[in-house]
Amino acid sequence: MKKIIPHSRPTLGRAEAAAASRVLLSGQVAQGPEIASFEREAADFLGLRAAAAVSTGTTALELSLDALGVGAGHEVLIPDYSCSALLHAVRRTGAEPVLVDCEDGGDNADMRDAARKRTRRTKAIILVHLFGETADIAGARALGVPLIEDCAQALGGRFHGKPLGSFGEACVLSFYATKMITTGGEGGMVVSSHQGLVERIRDLREYDEKPASTPRRNAKLTDLQAAVGRVQLGRLDSFLRLRAKIAAAYDEAFRGLDVLIPRDPEESAHFRYVLRLNAGRRDAVARRLLRLGVSARVPIFRPLHHDMGGGRFPQAERAWKESLSIPLYPSLSPSDQAKVIAAVRSAL
Ligand SMILES: Cc1ncc(COP(=O)(O)O)c(C=O)c1O
Repeated sequence: MKKIIPHSRPTLGRAEAAAASRVLLSGQVAQGPEIASFEREAADFLGLRAAAAVSTGTTALELSLDALGVGAGHEVLIPDYSCSALLHAVRRTGAEPVLVDCEDGGDNADMRDAARKRTRRTKAIILVHLFGETADIAGARALGVPLIEDCAQALGGRFHGKPLGSFGEACVLSFYATKMITTGGEGGMVVSSHQGLVERIRDLREYDEKPASTPRRNAKLTDLQAAVGRVQLGRLDSFLRLRAKIAAAYDEAFRGLDVLIPRDPEESAHFRYVLRLNAGRRDAVARRLLRLGVSARVPIFRPLHHDMGGGRFPQAERAWKESLSIPLYPSLSPSDQAKVIAAVRSAL
């Protein structure tokens, strides 16, 4: 059977296995000292004061909103073209999600559309740096509401030299298997310069031996997961260099094919490498790539307005219909990179 190059894969090895095994054999596997170290190291990486590790990125979003006091009667601005985790998180607080279209011809949310949709009830904005590319931080700040930077796809990206995630009230991370780093399958974190916000999330993530009058969760990460996450965080700089190198090779190979959207290679986290193909052509190219041994994916399931009764989101619709993501991850070997390049050139 022909080998298919997977669209995404975690990059895990002996060091992660050794860390997991050390914790397993220690007898301390639930939340403990590894979590405390992981939180401190992640906060240091982002140059922020503190962090709260939680079970998933979705929970990190929910608890950030809770900690900011978002609830019934409020609105939260979120990108239409993004992961449905945002919609679920906002709805769970009782607030109403308000969808923002994409920038003209781009993937990230258009802050002029956000400004038009901001009302007196707007309590926060979740800004996603989609595919590892910096969204309009200045535009989001100008809205004058608390900013949650969703860096689930952008850990290690920068804006004007400063880490993405350090511009808002809270930075949300996901450590799902194929994200920038993983804690071994699932995981999440909120990092912030506001110690009080982090303390509140630490309080809300566990219920044991506390009054049940405040709704709390069991949303903790474990020491076993944190030990894996700490090794991954230590490797993040090398992951970023490898991702940037692969992206640069693709840029070079696909120049002139009219499938690229402009981005800043110096600041991107290079989470995804997304081709823009004229509507109608995208699915045929994906099928051809698969026949050539390369798995390519539509990177966003569908714009959120499809699940919220419709509306006019022409740029998000266009991004969705034109985008095709090809393999880009640190463990993609040079020979597989060459195969991806040859397959894309042939499929186009
Ligand atoms: C932008 C974004 N935000 C949030 C999430 C949710 O993270 P998790 O899957 O860890 O719950 C994801 C996951 O895919 C994501 O891509």
